Amino acid sequence: MIEFSHEEASRLSDAERAAVLADPGFGKVFTDHMVSIVWTREAGWHDAKVMPYGPISMDPGASVLHYGQEIFEGIKAYRHANGDIVTFRPEANARRLNESAVRMALPELPEELFVQAIEALVRADAAWVPSGDDQGLYIRPFMIADESFLGVRAAERARFMVIASPAGPYFSGGVQPVSIWLSDHYSRAGHGGTGAANCGGNYAASLLPTRIAQQNGCAQVLFTDALTEDTIDELGGMNLMLVHRDGKLITPALNGNILDGVTRRSRIQLAKDRGVEVEERAVTVSEWRDGVANGEIVEAFACGTAAVITPIGQLKSEDGTIVDFGDAAPGALTMSLREELTGIQFGTVADTHGWVHRIVSA
Ligand code: COI
Repeated sequence: MIEFSHEEASRLSDAERAAVLADPGFGKVFTDHMVSIVWTREAGWHDAKVMPYGPISMDPGASVLHYGQEIFEGIKAYRHANGDIVTFRPEANARRLNESAVRMALPELPEELFVQAIEALVRADAAWVPSGDDQGLYIRPFMIADESFLGVRAAERARFMVIASPAGPYFSGGVQPVSIWLSDHYSRAGHGGTGAANCGGNYAASLLPTRIAQQNGCAQVLFTDALTEDTIDELGGMNLMLVHRDGKLITPALNGNILDGVTRRSRIQLAKDRGVEVEERAVTVSEWRDGVANGEIVEAFACGTAAVITPIGQLKSEDGTIVDFGDAAPGALTMSLREELTGIQFGTVADTHGWVHRIVSA
C-alpha cells in the first residue's frame, strides 16, 4: 500500500459545480483534484499525490511530445440512490493498462496501485459524482513518458495520472440511434501494430476519418481490417455488436487489432448468463449489409465505457447508405442489454459477478 500525499483544492463554488452536474455533457469540465505518480527506472513508482487539478509542466524534450509514448483507460464512478459511490471492474482496467504498457514499452503499474489511485481521486472528488439518469464521473487514468531525451528508445521516466470529469451520454443526442460512417480510405490498425493497445496514437490516427464521418452527419467511424477492407475491426472509440434475429449476438473476435473493451467483455458474459448465444468471430460489412437486407441482422450497437451501449441506426459510406434500421432502431434487445448493464452499475440489478467496487459508503 503506497501512501498518497493529499493537497485539498476547490475550483468551483458549490453552486457552480451544481450547474455543471445538471448538464455535464462529456469531458468538458474537470474535477478539483488529480492523481500523479512518478516512475523512474532506478526508483520505480513513487511520489504518489492527490493534488489540485491543473496544468502540468514538462520538459519540451519529453518523449511523449515527440514519439507519442502514451496510454490511457476510461472507467466511470456511479452514485447509487442511497448515496454510495461505486466503480465497475477497476481491476480489469488495471490489467488492460498494463497490457497497453507492455506494447508501448512503458512501465507496468501494480494493479492495486491503479485501484488505490482511482479510489483516492473519487474520495477527494465525491461531490463531483453526478446523480442524474445516465450520468457518472468519467475517470481517465493515463500514463506518459516524460524523460527528456530525443533518441528513439523507451523512456526511463514516466508519470501515471488520473483526472476525472462528470459525464452524461457520450453522444450529444443522448441514448438515440447514431449513424456510423464506414472509413473506406483509412484503417485504424494493421497486424502486429498497436490496435489492441489503448494508446493515444490510435485515436490520433482516427481523427481525420472521424472528421470526415462528422462532415457526413455521422457520429462515429467504422474501421475495417487493413487487408480485406471488409472485415470489421471496431468503431473509432468503441466495439461493435450485431443482433441476429434468433437473438444471438455477433461481435468481432479479439484479433490483436481491436480493443479488449471492458464493456464488451461484460456484455458478452451477461448475455451468456441469460442464455444468449454469442459468436466472437470475423464479421464483415457485407455480412452486416446482406443480413439486414434479408432480415437476419435486426439490431446493432456500439459498446464502450463512454458509449455504454448506444444503438446504431444507420451505416453509411461514400457510396450511400449501406444499412438503415429505420424505425426498428433502437432495438428492443439493445435497450434491454443496456438497462441490465447500467442497472448493475447503478445498483438496481443484482451484481452476480462481484463487478461493482464500492468506494464511498453513504
Ligand atoms: C472509453 O469508452 O472510455 C473510451 O476510451 C472511448 C473514447 C471516449 C476515447
